[in-house]
Amino acid sequence: MTTHSPDRHVFARSAPVRLWEDGFALDPYPYYEALRAQGPVGWGELAPGVPAYVVTCRRAALDLLHDTDTFSHDPRPWESTVADDSPVLGMMRWRPNTLFADGAAHARYRTSLIDTFDRIEPHDLRARVHRAVRVLVGRFGPEGRADLVGEFTRPLMALVFNDLFGLPDSHGDRLHVALGKMMEGGAEAAEGEAEFGGYVLELIAAKTERRGEDLPSRLLDHPAGLTAEEVTWQVFLTLGAGYEPTANLVSNALSRILGNPRYYSTLTSGARPVTDAVTEVLHHETPLANYGIHYARRPVSFHGAWIRAAVPVVVSYGALALQDDPQGSRGPAVAEPQAPGRRHPRDASHLSWSAGPHACPVRQHTLLIATEAIERLTQWLPDLEPVLPRERLTWRPGPFHRSLTSLPVRFSPRSPDQPGVAS
Ligand code: HEM
Repeated sequence: MTTHSPDRHVFARSAPVRLWEDGFALDPYPYYEALRAQGPVGWGELAPGVPAYVVTCRRAALDLLHDTDTFSHDPRPWESTVADDSPVLGMMRWRPNTLFADGAAHARYRTSLIDTFDRIEPHDLRARVHRAVRVLVGRFGPEGRADLVGEFTRPLMALVFNDLFGLPDSHGDRLHVALGKMMEGGAEAAEGEAEFGGYVLELIAAKTERRGEDLPSRLLDHPAGLTAEEVTWQVFLTLGAGYEPTANLVSNALSRILGNPRYYSTLTSGARPVTDAVTEVLHHETPLANYGIHYARRPVSFHGAWIRAAVPVVVSYGALALQDDPQGSRGPAVAEPQAPGRRHPRDASHLSWSAGPHACPVRQHTLLIATEAIERLTQWLPDLEPVLPRERLTWRPGPFHRSLTSLPVRFSPRSPDQPGVAS
């Protein structure tokens, strides 16, 4: 860990950069630049009156993510310093699950989740994604127009998770409304959190009574011996951590693909794998823009900043992209298509899955879901056309995500039962 004298208090004269402002959703890059101007660790605000150290440098991020002796994932000392109705509590409040645990407790929770996900065969997951795409195209395909965020990516994730959790499709709408409110971290965040909690509690009560071939049942029977309450919180986390970021990964990738006619033509002819588009998002517009929240166990000097205990230290995955590529990350520009089979020039560099003990444990599943969803959609609807240029698309407020409000498209009306289309 790089350390400096505690006297070098970088924030003495810096106003916190407000990551909760509408302007941040509109264009986050000036905010990231302002943070980076303060040094490897900047001073930001996640909500009015909720300050945080924000790490914007790769070296400092890696040091933070790997230094479990100095930094903890347990937010409880911080929680006592914030108002009960703070809009960020939905995303940051302690729960007995892998994200908020350290050491042996973390290993126990994480192993149970990894083992459970490992039992999902790729062909099974692929089939579930295809089924969900078919259901959704069945709903909006005949219309010839759709909002791909509201009618495709978000309900898609609700359908896939419902399926994996052994719930009927009818529960999907309830899920994506609740999670949307919670992730925005705004006035409706507490309501969203309560609705989401109710959804998960009902699910676990049903599975406790009667097991099925689904993820919660496998977690309940895992040799780690999790209690029903602990399983509830692993499922709560899995849905919270997986649903929104993956929906946003797919939306952000689709918006880039559709915003670039050259890109789209090579994609539909099969010349350019969808994986490239998804990789581009992970580099330039990562869906979980600011997270990886740690708390110093004691006051510590860290990369030029004096870090107080019980104050969140956030990794800005979005600002790290700016460090990797000061021009390419900015604004709406979309990279030119790569030649088939060529590696993306920055393939190895992004930290969008985080690093260290809490790095995303389900990367491969996520990539499969995202790429299959886009490939299947573009097979069903090969002439998708954006209604708005990419620079006129709007983004949902909130410090944590990079999330489109909507992605309106038009296309030749299709029905999944029509002959000659994907099946
Ligand atoms: C099926 C979809 C997904 C599921 C089920 C999922 C699940 C999880 C879980 C359970 C954790 C906590 C791991 C731990 O604390 O040990 C985690 C961490 C993480 N995930 Fe994922 N995830 C999904 C998709 C994504 C996507 C699309 C992204 C963004 C590209 C992402 C980025 C991350 C990051 C950055 C972390 C670390 C968070 C931190 O350090 O606080 N995940 N994920």
